Amino acid sequence: MTMNHIQTENYAALSKKAALIIAGQILSKPGSVLGFATGSTPVGTYEELIRLYKEGAVDFGRVTTYNLDEYYGVPRTDPNSYYAFMHTNLFDHINIEDGATHLPNGSAADPVAESIAYEAKIKAAGGVDLQVLGIGNNGHIGFNEPDDHFPAVTHHVQLTDSTIDANSRFYASRDEVPKSALTMGIGTIMAAKKILLLISGTAKKEIMEKALYGPVTPQVPASILQFHNDVTVITDF
Ligand code: GLP
Repeated sequence: MTMNHIQTENYAALSKKAALIIAGQILSKPGSVLGFATGSTPVGTYEELIRLYKEGAVDFGRVTTYNLDEYYGVPRTDPNSYYAFMHTNLFDHINIEDGATHLPNGSAADPVAESIAYEAKIKAAGGVDLQVLGIGNNGHIGFNEPDDHFPAVTHHVQLTDSTIDANSRFYASRDEVPKSALTMGIGTIMAAKKILLLISGTAKKEIMEKALYGPVTPQVPASILQFHNDVTVITDF
């Protein structure tokens, strides 16, 4: 395991360092394929990337992106879709080509066919150069929930109660929270050449310790990252 763990003072510092790593990736390979994540954690990183873009420090003109996941049954026009999240928090503010950003299609009639097609698109793009990850309270990455096995490829997944609870903060009632999602698999994530895992808030300290320093088990999906050979973790605690 080669894991570079960067501890920062606060969320602003975490966000700056994460954005610099992503910008550095683009500078060294302008046609990079980036894997992006949603959730509260990377929001500051995306703000910093927008700032770096506006300063002229980074150019997204040749970048391609693939997001980790999307709610199933949620149209792109829904403000809670991950499509909307990525456009609001990043894509609408940088010079990325329209057709260069990808998320699984949460409105696809056939979630299995959509998952297979998404996995194939990532492969055809040559795989992900740098994958940004957050971590769920239960150790999930993307929407790979604790399970008795590591799901290999992009798939349709039922969300656990703990994830539905965590996501209910964005909805008026728990009933409205999507119950399933399309997500890259653990194999898809592990195939990325580099991984950047962002963890914010002491509430995630315990799961971070389990994931990075505990036994590798599908009950803590992020623990598989211990077997990846190029992981950078940034924490703000
Ligand atoms: C969702 C996303 C994950 C993300 C997690 C944590 O479940 N599918 O990719 O890591 O939320 O989100 P937050 O950063 O808001 O804690």
